[in-house]
Amino acid sequence: MNIRIPETINERYSVRFYQAEPIADATQAALLTSLAGLQRGPLGSHTRFLLAAANAEERAALRGLGTYGFIRNPTGFIIGAVEVNHHALEDFGYMMETAVLQATALGLGTCWLGGSFTQSSFASKIGKQDHEIIPAVAAAGYAMPQVRERDLLRRAARSETRLPWEDLFFDGSFRQPLTIPRAVQAGDYARALEMVRLAPSASNKQPWRIVKDGSRWHFYCQRTPGYGEGSWYFTLLRLADLQRLDVGIAMCHFALSLQQLGLPGSWSVSDPGLEPVNAKTLYIATWNAEE
Ligand SMILES: Cc1cc2nc3c(=O)[nH]c(=O)nc-3n(C[C@H](O)[C@H](O)[C@H](O)COP(=O)(O)O)c2cc1C
Repeated sequence: MNIRIPETINERYSVRFYQAEPIADATQAALLTSLAGLQRGPLGSHTRFLLAAANAEERAALRGLGTYGFIRNPTGFIIGAVEVNHHALEDFGYMMETAVLQATALGLGTCWLGGSFTQSSFASKIGKQDHEIIPAVAAAGYAMPQVRERDLLRRAARSETRLPWEDLFFDGSFRQPLTIPRAVQAGDYARALEMVRLAPSASNKQPWRIVKDGSRWHFYCQRTPGYGEGSWYFTLLRLADLQRLDVGIAMCHFALSLQQLGLPGSWSVSDPGLEPVNAKTLYIATWNAEE
């Protein structure tokens, strides 16, 4: 399915209140076809996804699985599994976000839910294998109309809920912010960066950082202190390292935007050795623009 970017990215927001109406058969069929194509992440991990109807037991179980917020009445869940390997989390984030955008383009509301799903009924639904993990799922369904209006207002103001350019994007090194005037020189790439800025992230922490280095764009995770791998909360709940999913989501918005703009390139993992911001800066991957 061809997703229209940036329209779909602008359209997406986290829907937490759903109508009881089940997802129309034709929509389910179209989404299932799209999901069947999501088989390998950009950094090589195998992924698979399915759309499952939500039952009462799963809706009730969400809290106990470590998700936050109150998700009312989702009619379906997009469930995905990824093979365990070095870049499984970024690959999962990238591919699940592609699924979320496909669902959005089909008129569905979605909400990412990070939790410990690996031992849950979601795992049995997708027939999780020993070599796979389920780092997150997405609720799906039709947004409740009354709430939708309020949410749309919120969505209009979303740009304000995101960190400014100079905190997220850099030119040459982390010491030189890529401010908007500088970014204008980056031409169409600036549009792709803005699409990254509007991406969803766990607790809206926006841990992605991008350093432009000529025709290479290095993606980093700037971990929020106390959040993520190693924190007691995450260890206790056996949660995946959600901030690495977030970077996969940012990579997805960037690459899909460039694809739409007709700007080719490819991903590689080759740490350029730039001086990090601090010990919480983690290099993830590089987009190499074709010149
Ligand atoms: C990896 C990940 C996990 C998330 N987990 C939850 C969750 O458990 N509960 C929830 O209500 N929202 C969850 N969200 C949604 C974020 O809170 C939301 O994307 C962010 O606040 C930005 O708002 P927006 O999606 O409306 O643009 C998650 C998002 C991501 C990317």
